[in-house]
Amino acid sequence: MRSRADSGAFVVQDVAGAAEQRRSIRRYAETEIPEEEIRDLLRLAGRAPSAFNAQPWRFIVVRDEALKAGLAAAANNQQQVIRAPATIVMYSDMQNALERLPEAMHPDMPAEQREAGVKRFRASFETKSADERENWGANQANIALGYLLLLAESKGLATSPMLGFDAEKVKALLGLPSHVRIPALVSIGYPDEEGFRPHRISSETLVEFR
Ligand SMILES: Cc1cc2nc3c(=O)[nH]c(=O)nc-3n(C[C@H](O)[C@H](O)[C@H](O)COP(=O)(O)O)c2cc1C
Repeated sequence: MRSRADSGAFVVQDVAGAAEQRRSIRRYAETEIPEEEIRDLLRLAGRAPSAFNAQPWRFIVVRDEALKAGLAAAANNQQQVIRAPATIVMYSDMQNALERLPEAMHPDMPAEQREAGVKRFRASFETKSADERENWGANQANIALGYLLLLAESKGLATSPMLGFDAEKVKALLGLPSHVRIPALVSIGYPDEEGFRPHRISSETLVEFR
């Protein structure tokens, strides 16, 4: 059994080990995840790289039982949303990321270079529609989603990523603006089942060298 809920110990695995072991888990122990652990996990997920360092990902950690029930209703009644001590709504907001771009510029760069970078990046979005802009942001946020799933595994936490939900219902429930995108809901907790062992089509058939 992979469950670490009983010991409460955090097993820190290396990245390769976490990639080998990770699988979706949909049943969790009742043990709460300490808030600091979730904060640290999301801080590390935010170490994901993004084009122009835009970092358009945002997270809402839903722990309130009534809110989780509302989320589950918006997510085809997927029960892991309720069973997990927390379900993370991961969304991306490029409109906000463009406003906050100066914060994203590297402090070691000279001021003129930072200002030029902000201008150049904002200009590159002037020709794009709001839809294109937000889709671009969601693509970046998916990089952080991968980080989040792997990091959780490395810390002994189990996850269930989900795309089976009605985004408009989730936005209404949480009061999110209509332009944002939601790359995934991620239920998270200490595992209380084995889950299916990871299965993938052979990487040999997906890779070629030239
Ligand atoms: C973006 C994304 C969306 C997914 N949506 C759902 C979902 O709505 N419901 C569900 O039960 N599993 C969902 N899954 C889980 C996948 O079915 C699962 O990751 C895949 O079968 C591989 O299995 P593993 O995660 O156990 O390795 C989703 C996975 C990802 C990455």
